[in-house]
Amino acid sequence: MRHLLSPLDLTVDETNRLLDLADRIYENRSVFSEICHGKKLATLFYEPSTRTRLSFEAAMLNLGGSVLGFSSADSSSAAKGETVADTIRVISSYADICAMRHPKEGAPMVASQFSSIPVINAGDGGHNHPTQTLTDLFTIRRLKGRLTNFTIGFCGDLKFGRTVHSLIEELVRYTGIRFILISPPELKIPSYVRIEVLEANGADYTEITSLEEALPQLDLLYMTRVQRERFFNEEDYIRLKDTYILDERKLSLAKPDMLILHPLPRVNEIAVEVDQDPRAVYFKQAELGVYVRMALILTLLNIPLPEGGTSC
Ligand code: NCD
Repeated sequence: MRHLLSPLDLTVDETNRLLDLADRIYENRSVFSEICHGKKLATLFYEPSTRTRLSFEAAMLNLGGSVLGFSSADSSSAAKGETVADTIRVISSYADICAMRHPKEGAPMVASQFSSIPVINAGDGGHNHPTQTLTDLFTIRRLKGRLTNFTIGFCGDLKFGRTVHSLIEELVRYTGIRFILISPPELKIPSYVRIEVLEANGADYTEITSLEEALPQLDLLYMTRVQRERFFNEEDYIRLKDTYILDERKLSLAKPDMLILHPLPRVNEIAVEVDQDPRAVYFKQAELGVYVRMALILTLLNIPLPEGGTSC
């Protein structure tokens, strides 16, 4: 039985096969519409979510399966003090696969140790978010045509942004990627990502504070929200929240084919006027997330595919 706790739980080959399967599903949805009939996905969300939870549920429904779960810790027995270990033992007998989001780093990993069904990490604190990474890769591959040889800028809250940590862990495995890390000094990438991921893999990276300086060099810009819920005090959040606001004026410094990604939700960091720009692909990115999650569910459940064989 396999879980997806970190993007590194899939090899690069397996990841590419999963993206190939997502392409197949995207191009021929009806072939897959009953393939998970009788299977159940549990969504165990101890933290707020719109896209991740609903795209997981849409993914399972699109495959002909069913969904059950909870969308906040308050509405589950966590509010009574139940541990993740006990919850997952029980859910294992109610569902075939589960996606878990939790404010504590490592909670889905703990769950996987007590689970008899595959556990997917749908975001654990400021740590990892591997299915957002698959969504990001699928978007880049479909819209840029490759996962190698580009300069990517990560901008905003690189300290607490789990989507950033996971995407960097993934992209250091591909060739010719240059990373430009744009943040205020207080929100720089954590030292474990810098040392154990970027430096350990010999990645080409620069840390800077100016978005304007970075923009002309980028093939991809990955904007992020300042993660209010992970701050220790509100004053720091208020001081830092509007450090970067991407607008049409700044965007005039960028290449004509640069793609703007954002895991969403957006707060202030991208002006609404940018939504009309053909380079803004964040809503498309959210749409594509359903197809990678469909591919992931099929892969982890080891479901035979229409022409035989499994995906990874
Ligand atoms: C992200 C998350 O939850 O980490 N959202 C998402 O899953 N699409 C990013 C965020 O909350 O800022």
